[in-house]
Amino acid sequence: MLEARDRVGGRAWAVRNGTRIAMNGEETQTVAFAPGLYMNAGPARIPSFHTGFLGYARKFDVPMEVEVNSSRSAYIVGADGSRIRMRTAINDMRGHIAALLGKAVRQGSLDQTLSAADKERLLPFLSRYGDLAPDGRFVGTERSGFARLPGAGLTFGAHGQPLPLEQLLANEQLPMTLFEDDIYMQATMLEPVGGMDQVHIGIDRNLRRPSIRGAEALEMANTPDGVAVVWRDRASGETRRMTADYLICTLPLPVAAGLRSNLPAAVTSAIASVRYGESNKVGFDSPRFWEAEEQIYGGISFVGPPTGLIWYPSGDLFSERGMLLGCYNSGPVAEAFAKMPLADQIAAARAAVEKTHPGHGDKLANPAVINWSKVPYSLGPWPDWGAMSSGRGQEGHIDAPAYTLLQQPAGQIYFAGAHLSQTPGWQEGGIQSAWVQVSAIVDRVRQQERRAA
Ligand code: ALA
Repeated sequence: MLEARDRVGGRAWAVRNGTRIAMNGEETQTVAFAPGLYMNAGPARIPSFHTGFLGYARKFDVPMEVEVNSSRSAYIVGADGSRIRMRTAINDMRGHIAALLGKAVRQGSLDQTLSAADKERLLPFLSRYGDLAPDGRFVGTERSGFARLPGAGLTFGAHGQPLPLEQLLANEQLPMTLFEDDIYMQATMLEPVGGMDQVHIGIDRNLRRPSIRGAEALEMANTPDGVAVVWRDRASGETRRMTADYLICTLPLPVAAGLRSNLPAAVTSAIASVRYGESNKVGFDSPRFWEAEEQIYGGISFVGPPTGLIWYPSGDLFSERGMLLGCYNSGPVAEAFAKMPLADQIAAARAAVEKTHPGHGDKLANPAVINWSKVPYSLGPWPDWGAMSSGRGQEGHIDAPAYTLLQQPAGQIYFAGAHLSQTPGWQEGGIQSAWVQVSAIVDRVRQQERRAA
């Protein structure tokens, strides 16, 4: 295993106090987080159904903890700065929708669609679903938060008035109340204790032949008896050549496009044709004002462009300081964001935190910025297969011609990585792709052995 970087894990990268972040065209940052804090610069959450990744964590004894991917105490923040707590946005919308649907059912608007028996069953369900008043109106619910907390003695709890429907609909981030229902985002999500790289370090620790670090691949070639890789030892500057029977190239495609090779023209042009997306993160070292003052323990506030979200740490709750992610964006917004000077990216993230948590923006210290398109040996977070695939699909529906071609070996060279899976933005995709290609080589070798016998 040749690894260009001085560490394993690739884009799965946890940065901590002292980590140097080198990015093309930028001055190198040295992370200055408080001891114990880290930022998962790349992947940061594992769905429960990603059993390949979680299986390696289990196999290699890497401690995992809950990644709190949603909090009902977090906010959606409109462009005008108005904040709505998640619990209020979710449950007031449910109340309004349930009341509206109930009204339509009762006045017979859906009689063409619903049988009398279904109508009879639906109405009580809607009443529960929206926490409606006995007359079917929505007059607010404790689910959306207390206006007065229940206390001792005869201090009764009371909910407030529901937010008007138009106020909910006017918040541009309202659709993000559904984020936690996305199959990839559903509780319970997990993270390795202490940083995403712990799983990769665990795997590396268990390799029979440990990775060769600082080995920058320059050339890959099919040869009459196998493959050859020319690589540069970054420490000594020396060029080395390595031969083997087969090669699995897991380089991100923009990196692979930079290597010399004798691959067929169709393969090299497929590699060169794939455009990668953009993604950025800005993290701060901060006192945990969001916990005691706002009752937010993990989860995400959605703030809209350009910074996208504020992500609160899941680990070490109740400790003094935490890594607050003040920006995580991707797509076209991220492309424009990465073009700004790092100081402006930090300022934008700080402003988004100030907008969401007034009075706290200037408590954010020691920022760290990651623009994935500028990180050497990564050059982007994941391919943007969308427009290249027939269904214009990204996750789950990729069939672009380049994607299909690279599933096949070119001679003895195989390609693997999350970019060649149906989930290019998830580590599980990289694992699935690796298993497919390793199995293909095993089958091929077995067939050859059978023929020789
Ligand atoms: N897997 C990436 C995320 O969780 C895209 O945000």
